[in-house]
Amino acid sequence: MRKHIVAGNWKMNNGLIQTETLISELKQQTKTSDAEVMIAPTFTNLWHAFESTRQDDIEVIAQNMHFAEHGAYTGEISAGMLKSIGIKTVILGHSERRAYFNETDESLAKKVNTALAHNMRVIFCFGEELSDRKAGNEETVVENQIKNALFHLEASAFKHIVLAYEPVWAIGTGETASPEQAQDMHAFIRKTLKSKYGETVANDMTILYGGSVKPGNAKEIFSKPDVDGGLIGGAALNAEDFYAIVNAF
Ligand code: PGA
Repeated sequence: MRKHIVAGNWKMNNGLIQTETLISELKQQTKTSDAEVMIAPTFTNLWHAFESTRQDDIEVIAQNMHFAEHGAYTGEISAGMLKSIGIKTVILGHSERRAYFNETDESLAKKVNTALAHNMRVIFCFGEELSDRKAGNEETVVENQIKNALFHLEASAFKHIVLAYEPVWAIGTGETASPEQAQDMHAFIRKTLKSKYGETVANDMTILYGGSVKPGNAKEIFSKPDVDGGLIGGAALNAEDFYAIVNAF
């Protein structure tokens, strides 16, 4: 089912004390929209964040995971480890993972398979770089990212997937895709899904936009018919700003 989601990607920010503080500030906010609220603290604070939001309308999710079940992968975290502390959703394919940690469509396809095998929900990120957009290739790039990492899946798997379109040129830059650019790409993503999996999968897919979403632009972006929510970086580190975005629906 298509739903509204606003997820905060904290990236490599906030130690334990700041995590505690931000969570207590988030709890003081009032939600007036129907959006599902998620936060993705760093691995070391996941358990604490999970425990301290048990009674709240906030889901704690992971920023990444490895595709292997376990073994000699120093510094990595498995799906089973995340599940063992109650985490049910993982962000995969964020552009920073692709750019700085060599994540490829191929390794992401494996991660998606592992997450789904563990009954986890995946927020799958993708998006074109500025050079792609300048060359007019943004749709081809996005189509390939989706096809290469997801099109081996059965239609039923898409119930457990949320897509997050994040144009790389808009992430952390203050430059947002215009609401029309976001809408055009989200409609194209739905069309791409429809061509392979049919109308129901395409219409039911929750597609988030990410890239410099702020309280001042969220309402306009979220008003577009194919935009179902946001993946929020910088603005998710401030409780009031984050809930202003959550309540922009
Ligand atoms: P930003 O990050 O909101 O700071 O641009 C978005 C993201 O990386 O998901």
